[in-house]
Amino acid sequence: MKALILAGGKGTRLRPITFTRAKQLVPVANKPILFYGIESIRDAGITDIGIIVGDTADEVMDACGDGSRWGVSLTYIPQEAPLGLAHAVKIAEDFMAGDSFVMYLGDNLIKDGIVRFVDEFESGTANAQILLARVPNASQFGVAELGTDGSVKCLVEKPEEPRSDLALVGVYLFDDSVFEAVGAIEPSARGELEITDAIQWLVDNGKRVDPHIIEGWWKDTGKLDDMLEANRIILDTLSPEISGDVDAESEIHGRVSIGQGTSVRKSVIRGPSVIGERCEIVDTYIGPYTSVGDCCEVTGSELEHAILMREARVLNVGRRIADSLIGCNVTVRRTDGVLSAIRVMLGDNSEVELA
Ligand code: TTP
Repeated sequence: MKALILAGGKGTRLRPITFTRAKQLVPVANKPILFYGIESIRDAGITDIGIIVGDTADEVMDACGDGSRWGVSLTYIPQEAPLGLAHAVKIAEDFMAGDSFVMYLGDNLIKDGIVRFVDEFESGTANAQILLARVPNASQFGVAELGTDGSVKCLVEKPEEPRSDLALVGVYLFDDSVFEAVGAIEPSARGELEITDAIQWLVDNGKRVDPHIIEGWWKDTGKLDDMLEANRIILDTLSPEISGDVDAESEIHGRVSIGQGTSVRKSVIRGPSVIGERCEIVDTYIGPYTSVGDCCEVTGSELEHAILMREARVLNVGRRIADSLIGCNVTVRRTDGVLSAIRVMLGDNSEVELA
């Protein structure tokens, strides 16, 4: 059994962060989303992993290396353009060399992992297995309809009137019959080879596609709010550890992790929160569900329910910044003097909300 992680794509829903960065490398609780996927696959006993990479290939390769740090072997498979999830499968055929595999979308987070899902497939006789979760808003997802024998009857992408509440989660298991399917289907109206069409082809051609319904939390982190929710869920499992230097005038409440070389002065930090290494936190309140990356500086400010990526600076803002994602090396600061105007330098597609 092998694995295929999809870490290419366009990432349009997370611009401007994705103009300069792979969305799969945006940190959740200070660890790139993609690393959680690699760990889930490793925990399911799979060590031979192909990673589909696109425009951000160099960054993904730099971050993950050869996989030895996880005890796995990583092979990078370049995709010339984001031509669809089924296209990614198609270009991985040589790497799979006839083996069955788990396909994992690199921006998905499945809290309880995939061990049971993989075990079930390996001990059964299905040609494919899809992971499903019950959702209240099924029309926003790919939706599966099951037959009376419990196997998958049909898949519909974002149906106006969903016939079930079972949404497709971004993890799939296939044997080598999927390569015939991805070779047979045509691009959809949006010009992509759709994985739902490939799975439907399997069903229509007499292959067995089994569902596996998960009860635990999962998230496709394509948008800002999903990213913040993922951060919240992972921080809820945080083990507290204070390695940095906290002065006597500061207070730490709840589960807080503070990295080496970080200094906390005259500040209050309320967990669950994580502060990376070599940060300066001065005269600041950091509220629950905040992740501060390495080498950040936060002074005279308040942060809550937010992700600050490495080397970001929030200086003397004096007001609370909440529900926010702040990219690497970004500065948010209050200027001296009385300014009636707000001064900004924002990249394309940035979003600022002013109260
Ligand atoms: P999506 O989130 O469906 O697509 P996207 O990354 O292009 O994002 P957006 O919709 O915001 O523009 O992709 C799911 C995962 O699969 C994600 O990790 C990117 C990856 N992917 C590929 O590797 N190749 C592809 O051709 C596509 C479409 C996605």
